[in-house]
Parts: sequence; structure tokens; C-alpha cells
Amino acid sequence: MNQKAFIFDLDGVIVDTARYHYLAWQKIATRLGIEFTHEHNELLKGVSRVRSLDIILGLGNVQATQEDKDKWLMEKNEDYLQSIHHMQADEILDGVVPVLDYLKNNNQKVALGSASKNARPILEKVGLLHYFDAIVDGNDVTNAKPDPEVFVKAAQLLGMPPEGAIVFEDSVAGVQAANIAQMISIGIGDKSVLQEAHYNFTDFTEIDTEFLETLVTT
Ligand code: BG6
Ligand code: MG
Repeated sequence: MNQKAFIFDLDGVIVDTARYHYLAWQKIATRLGIEFTHEHNELLKGVSRVRSLDIILGLGNVQATQEDKDKWLMEKNEDYLQSIHHMQADEILDGVVPVLDYLKNNNQKVALGSASKNARPILEKVGLLHYFDAIVDGNDVTNAKPDPEVFVKAAQLLGMPPEGAIVFEDSVAGVQAANIAQMISIGIGDKSVLQEAHYNFTDFTEIDTEFLETLVTT
């Protein structure tokens, strides 16, 4: 069995925090008179906080000063932090823990590659921090997905080459980032949205030991 680098996105892959991001952004949007639907929220997946606000303002054609933007970014994050404050292990998405257990039991390298600046506290709250040999999050990168920086850094920290690393992602930008880095992209979610991924699964319950064995032996 070979040793490979497995890199996990966080939001929408390990935990369903997309709904908390949505609720927090919706409050800001409503206050600004901008319509912000679940469909619009798809545009924000994998996208940094700063860029997310710009997208929302763009939806409503709202111009704002940097001072206003900074204020809204802070308010959004404070709201989001309140939502994640009570997160526990029961918010880990189904099938994730068995996959992490398989990887650790089979001597594989595991990293997190997330755009979120709140990644560490979330992993701590849900009790998954100990699975990760390396964590690269929104505090460590300058270029957002689809730039592959976050995944390349994660592979580096694991002491592994980027080519052939395996990435689990729920966002189009994240799948593109993995592909650009010549990694193997595994789309988690709607296949019609994540068409560019090398493999697709609706969620982790569909990923069996046989598939994981194929990944580590080839
Ligand atoms: C990504 C989410 O993981 O992190 C985005 O998919 C989010 O929706 C981004 O905007 C940044 O998160 P945070 O926690 O730093 O605001
Ligand atoms: Mg995600």
C-alpha cells in the first residue's frame, strides 16, 4: 500500500456550515435591501469572506466604502461565530469519520485545505482536530480557490508531492484548484455542478473501503 496525501475541504465536506454562512450573510443582505436566495448562496461556496461580500453587493448593485465593507464583514463573522459556537460532533456529515478512520489506520497523510479563517475552532469543536497531520486555512493563503495555493501548501506541509494528492471538495472553485495542481479531485455533492471532478459522490456514505483501497494502491 502506498502512502498518499488526502486533503479535505471543510465547509460542506466535513460539516454542513454552509447554512450558517447563509444565515449570517442573509441578515446583512436583508439590511441592505438585497435579495439573497439559496441559489445565490451557491456562488459563495469555497469563496473567501471578502470576495463573498463583494458578490452579494454585486447582486444588489450596491456601492460601498471600505469602512462599510469592513463593518459588515465583522458583523457577518460575529454572527457566524455565534452559530458555530455550539457545534458538536453530531454536526459532522455522515460517512466522514469512517473515511478518516480508514486513512489513519492505513498510514495515510491527512490535511485540511479550507478557505475559512474559522477552520481550526470548528475542527476542535466537533472533535476532529487529531485526525489532521496539517491544516492550511484562510489565514495561511493569499490566493483563493481556484488558485491551487491552499492544496499545494497542504501537500508541502505533509511532505508529499502535490501531484497525485487526493482532494475532497464540494465547490466548483475547489475542484478546479485541485485539478490545476494535478491532484485527484473528488466532488462531494451534486454531480451536475461538480462535473469537472475526477470522481463524484453525493456524500461520504457512498465512499466504500474498496474505493479508498484503489486510491492508495494505484
Ligand atoms: C469556505 C466557505 O470554506 O470558507 C465559504 O465555503 C466561506 O462560504 C469561506 O465564505 C470563508 O470562511 P470564513 O469562516 O473565513 O468566513
Ligand atoms: Mg466547501
